[in-house]
Amino acid sequence: MMSKSKEFFQNLFKPFKFNSDKDWRNGDDLQKIAQQEQKHFPFEILVAATNNFSHHQKLGEGGFGPVYRGKLDDGREIAVKKLSHSSNQGKKEFENEARLLAQVQHRNVVNLLGYCVHGQEKLLVYEYITNESPDKILFKSNRKWELDWMRRYEIISGVARGLLYLHEDSHNRIIHRDIKAGNILLDDKWIPKIADFGMARLFPEDQTHVNTRVAGTNGYMAPEYVMNGHLSAKADVFSFGVVVLELISGQRNSSFNLDVNAHSLLDWAYKLYKKGKSMEFMDPVLASSAVPEQLASCIQIGLLCTQGDPHIRPDMSRVVILQSKRPGSLEEPTRPAVPGTRYRRSRRPLGFSSTTATSSLSDSHSSGSIFNTNTASASTSALASPVRSDPHGKCSVQS
Ligand SMILES: Nc1ncnc2c1ncn2[C@@H]1O[C@H](COP(=O)(O)OP(=O)(O)OP(=O)(O)O)[C@@H](O)[C@H]1O
Ligand SMILES: [Mg+2]
Repeated sequence: MMSKSKEFFQNLFKPFKFNSDKDWRNGDDLQKIAQQEQKHFPFEILVAATNNFSHHQKLGEGGFGPVYRGKLDDGREIAVKKLSHSSNQGKKEFENEARLLAQVQHRNVVNLLGYCVHGQEKLLVYEYITNESPDKILFKSNRKWELDWMRRYEIISGVARGLLYLHEDSHNRIIHRDIKAGNILLDDKWIPKIADFGMARLFPEDQTHVNTRVAGTNGYMAPEYVMNGHLSAKADVFSFGVVVLELISGQRNSSFNLDVNAHSLLDWAYKLYKKGKSMEFMDPVLASSAVPEQLASCIQIGLLCTQGDPHIRPDMSRVVILQSKRPGSLEEPTRPAVPGTRYRRSRRPLGFSSTTATSSLSDSHSSGSIFNTNTASASTSALASPVRSDPHGKCSVQS
């Protein structure tokens, strides 16, 4: 019989043991290992995993293309996003970006496992996240009650930490550009994960798809971004603030139609806050689970984040600190932004072009990378042509 210690040592080295010397020389295996390192998925593997992108496997379709559920041979569940109107970004650039984004790892950010380029097709492979997004639960079902206050509070805290990581701590500083309730996925323990980060890097817009470009989602975009195309981390803070107020009220900002004297969800939150009646802003479903102090400070944070002037909005590190403070000790929010009425500049210098987005990759720590997205798109929409939305609520641009 094997002694306990011998067994222990054998087990210890098991993962490193190859079946035979032949395996070491096997080129296929080495290639597999190399591919894993590079986060590259062969197309055939994704075809097999998704049953040839069968419509039964389709999870949905957003502004970038369809998403399919799949299962790898090793049992891992995946979500494969087929990028449809892919940009002019070359194969190498796309691969570089995707490889960098696959290094982004945080408890509150969806894990990008890898990518695939197959002819003209570009695909992204994510870990599969079991539960739906708060957007579906709150706005598209009668299951609102599943998100009690504790869960909503955890979503707010988790998304704040995930966004802080993207803005400040990740390998390459990342502005999301499309923070919304639909881009938060909940795992089996209701832990929120930010989805679709880095799309701004993968879609550095260009003249060729000026008609279909994706520039954010209506109802969540900061006014300075809509009006001037100025994208910064503070634009994400604004979108985060909208998500916070949506989670608390159970109302969608873009289709706000309550019979109250307010122009928008944000305006309604502010008016109630000023009258000291913030509790009336709460989703009635939360009545039995809400913790009034937490609720009050979250409303105030939501209002601070959606202020018109990006300079006075807190950054995400401040938001995380504010969450642990008592509502009475938070700063006073100013009136929330009404897109289109503030911070309109007559003209933005055209030299501030989208090409910075593609070139900033290698210099990921430069301050330029934080503005790594297309600053031209929304500004063009504001100055030269009307903003219109596509079926996915995207803000598109007409050339
Ligand atoms: N990693 C994932 N795990 C589970 N479901 C996912 C994953 N990624 C996306 N989905 C689901 O696939 C569907 C389509 O997602 P997609 O991101 O394309 O659309 P969207 O979020 O509505 O729009 P957007 O283009 O603005 O992100 C959504 O229902 C989403 O919840
Ligand atoms: Mg999405």
